[in-house]
Amino acid sequence: MASPYVLVFLSSLLIAISFRSSLADDGVAGGVGENGDIIIRQVVGHGEEGVVDENSLLNADHHFAIFKRKYGKAYATQEEHDYRFSVFKKNLRRARRHQKLDPSAVHGVTQFSDLTPREFRRQFLGVNRRLRLPADANKAPILPTNDLPTDFDWRDHGAVTPVKNQGSCGSCWSFSTTGALEGASFLATGNLVSLSEQQLVDCDHECDPEEKGSCDSGCGGGLMNSAFEYTLKAGGLMREEDYPYTGTDRGACKFDENKIAAKVANFSVVSLDEDQIAANLVKSGPLAVAINAVYMQTYLRGVSCPYICSRRLDHGVLLVGYGAAGYAPIRLKEKPYWIIKNSWGEHWGQDGYYKICRGHNVCGVDSMVSSVAAVAISQ
Ligand SMILES: *[C@@H]1O[C@H](CO)[C@@H](O)[C@H](O)[C@H]1NC(C)=O
Repeated sequence: MASPYVLVFLSSLLIAISFRSSLADDGVAGGVGENGDIIIRQVVGHGEEGVVDENSLLNADHHFAIFKRKYGKAYATQEEHDYRFSVFKKNLRRARRHQKLDPSAVHGVTQFSDLTPREFRRQFLGVNRRLRLPADANKAPILPTNDLPTDFDWRDHGAVTPVKNQGSCGSCWSFSTTGALEGASFLATGNLVSLSEQQLVDCDHECDPEEKGSCDSGCGGGLMNSAFEYTLKAGGLMREEDYPYTGTDRGACKFDENKIAAKVANFSVVSLDEDQIAANLVKSGPLAVAINAVYMQTYLRGVSCPYICSRRLDHGVLLVGYGAAGYAPIRLKEKPYWIIKNSWGEHWGQDGYYKICRGHNVCGVDSMVSSVAAVAISQ
């Protein structure tokens, strides 16, 4: 499969950011226009914690104090403290810009509000882009789409483990991988077993033979398809409890093949078509997907549907369901969305989840979608 989509937004993030801010400054922002502020205030209510309005920008001191308390932030020196406060203020303005460009979601202060976008990408994302498919990947079959349910959520069917937390390590790809295999194993065996990301972080160094330097590398990033390939070759993944997550990639590989809890039968790449993605999700279980996470740094809740979002993929997550009509203000209502399980703990977003609108590959969410099938082994 050719992958021109990954190249669609070759323009750097900087360009994207300045484009966005100039839009926001001009008050164009997709038609929110001069009433934008009023709409935003109506949507988010008054003085709610974590939500950014013009008041927050005036009272940045106060909001920084709340932020530090809420997330237990302590800085070693006054200098560091002052620097983090300056970053925090920039992020308040960013959240405000995101709010204007993404009015059907609510943006504000999150646990990442004292990080620059660059620090955020480095510490909390971790998808290494790749343009080719691994040798063993199939293309998912084209499925019928006429009988798809209007709403679907694998959490209602017991196929999804609780939200996990990757910590400050670019290992998102391993959580996306375990999430997909946990679901596939559940479908194959009827048992939901939490699987080990740390095994992937420590032991999976699978490389793309055609692309030099594109290898799974612990906290330095990786790819879900490579991780499926590793899991196929290694024999399987151990349980989370037998190989617990540490959030560092400095330990040796402790894989024990006598303790394999889930095995990959095969994995396939799903086409860009959103109905095919939905059909594969319903048929095969939660899907491993990559996304551009720039709006996720400030996301609090709602359906994220930004007017502009890069499709440069930098974060691996798990697609677990979809809905037909998400909550959205006034003229944006009835927005269909994908339900995405993230790996930043359950205090991020909506109980650890993200909703992003369906329909036009927003933030690249349709660009790199994989489905995995598990071998039905007895637990
Ligand atoms: C993948 O494995 C599953 C389970 O063993 C099997 O039913 C399916 O036909 C396989 N798909 C492909 C494309 O080989």
